[in-house]
Amino acid sequence: MLIEIDAKGESLLGMSPEEFLRDYWQKRPLLIRNAWPNIQPPIEPEDLAGLACEEMALSRLISHDPATDEWNVETGPFPEEKFPDMPDHDWTLLVQDVDKWDGDVAAMRDCFDFLPRWRIDDIMISFAATGGNVGAHVDHYDVFLIQTYGERNWQIDASESMGQGKPNLAFRNDVDIKLLQEFKATHDWILNPGDMLYLPPEVPHHGVAVNPCLTYSLGMRAPSQADLISDFADDIASRLEEDQRYVDPDLHAAKDPFEIDGESIERVRVAMKSLFDQDPASFANWFGRFITTYRNPGEIAPMDEQPTVKAIDVALQGGLELSRHPWSSMAWREDGDEAVVFFNGEEIRVSPEEARQLCATSVWNRSNWKALQNKGRDAIATLYARGQYALTEP
Ligand code: SIN
Ligand code: CO
Repeated sequence: MLIEIDAKGESLLGMSPEEFLRDYWQKRPLLIRNAWPNIQPPIEPEDLAGLACEEMALSRLISHDPATDEWNVETGPFPEEKFPDMPDHDWTLLVQDVDKWDGDVAAMRDCFDFLPRWRIDDIMISFAATGGNVGAHVDHYDVFLIQTYGERNWQIDASESMGQGKPNLAFRNDVDIKLLQEFKATHDWILNPGDMLYLPPEVPHHGVAVNPCLTYSLGMRAPSQADLISDFADDIASRLEEDQRYVDPDLHAAKDPFEIDGESIERVRVAMKSLFDQDPASFANWFGRFITTYRNPGEIAPMDEQPTVKAIDVALQGGLELSRHPWSSMAWREDGDEAVVFFNGEEIRVSPEEARQLCATSVWNRSNWKALQNKGRDAIATLYARGQYALTEP
């Protein structure tokens, strides 16, 4: 199976999404040359440095001294005078969630519409000075590394996907970041602007800037089983009453008062199993709420009052627009003749057609608002009240 393909600027993956999903997705790495022809990075190094100084942005600065192999990790926000004084080598600035800050970066996600949107976590952008790198490591989620400016040398260890056994994923314990103790590259490439490297989870990789360069990483959201079970359990617990308790009307006289016998354990097991056996709709709705809950929950503040549809109508007729909050996360699922739209951990019921529209539309203006039925308008008023939209000038 190929590990490198030239898309020649004709498609994102150099093959159909179906072929990519069948042969590569979560299975093996793929270098796609010329996936993004003539790419002009919407965020340039100066913009990234500016963003790293913002209070709310998640930023890190990682420096490496190749002579001593010492690593230094700082987290933002950084003072503005930080960057002009940086040396011209061996450091990387990384900013997460840039898709939440910049509309053009957010729009890059549309090129990945063959994947469920709720599977996409964020677009992180790194700027590296010559020699800059974050060390050999693995990520627990799939990532598409898009070279947008300058050149980066990527080395990867694809031995597992080549049937040559699992690499050793033990971490070094002498540094603050999770770096691999051992790294043996099976592939070594220079990526140029427009090239994209897809890596499934747990593939060791190491990227070193050949010259000052920008790498955009589209990272997937892969909730851990621990997160799933604890959120699900919290969700169930929030609906249980105080009087729903351990019961044992079939209790026999204890043989030993200190023994927890098999029958007691069985009562607990049966009771808990029934709690986890939710009906399919409740289970699906929990998952929808869970997966649209962003890891930065403080970002979206609800309004004090529910705005009326009439007030929104007046504002849009007057030329204003309702724009989706950049941190808004929406998904939907069919439920009989209806649909449930999930937004940042909440849900609302509409028709399947309205659900599709609500999720796909980031701006409501006079004309697309006019085409909506009453129920769709009511849903938008509720979403607006929950902070999912803001009234903006066009
Ligand atoms: C980087 O952009 O420097 C690192 C990205 C990654 O390895 O996931
Ligand atoms: Co990585």
